[in-house]
Amino acid sequence: MKIKSAEFVISNTNYKICPTPEIPEYAFIGRSNVGKSSLINALANNRKLAKTSGNPGKTQLINHFLINNNWYLVDLPGYGFARVSKVKRAEFHNMISEYLLNRLNLICLFVLIDSRHKPQQIDQEFMKWLAEKRIPFTIVFTKSDKLGKTALSDNIKKYKATMLQQWEWLPEIFITSAEKKEGLNGILTYIERLNPQFKKTS
Ligand code: GTP
Ligand code: MG
Repeated sequence: MKIKSAEFVISNTNYKICPTPEIPEYAFIGRSNVGKSSLINALANNRKLAKTSGNPGKTQLINHFLINNNWYLVDLPGYGFARVSKVKRAEFHNMISEYLLNRLNLICLFVLIDSRHKPQQIDQEFMKWLAEKRIPFTIVFTKSDKLGKTALSDNIKKYKATMLQQWEWLPEIFITSAEKKEGLNGILTYIERLNPQFKKTS
């Protein structure tokens, strides 16, 4: 699938006032600075669509982007960002979990993980919560350009093996670089395949 048009629609703090859920949507989540906004821009081939930053904590709202007039990509705030107050963190947590639990047209959540990292407790706990709540998700490894080919495949092999010590199954996995525009087609094809699953609930 090619992205022919991508436009910013609205930013919200509450799922209840997000755009009417009448077309399918896919959201991107993960630790602050993992590359969510950059990946959305790479997929849409528009560097200015979602705001990115070298400093963690850039995205603070639920941001809807309309793609091909047909489905939404959603940029979410990152989790695990230490430099925000406890109150603010609780607000983020609430905003994100309410969105994930209640957004009727959310077909799949893309959980982003930095390719260089070992499994981290915060991501593992989050994915366990998703599984418990039956929220469909995939894993997207980001910043693959930061490792050589061998180190990259070794690290991902180890990541999967570690996960399999606690998980009976693994979700679909994508390996991407927003910088080098790699692994993008896999995600777009996956979305294309899932889009017809969406049925209007109203
Ligand atoms: P928050 O909104 O703060 O949660 O962060 P985010 O997950 O949206 O990350 P963002 O896309 O803003 O990127 C964070 C930093 O990582 C920026 O400096 C990006 O340029 C860099 N980055 C993102 N993707 C890649 C990538 O594929 N390769 C490399 N080398 N750098 C990347
Ligand atoms: Mg962001």
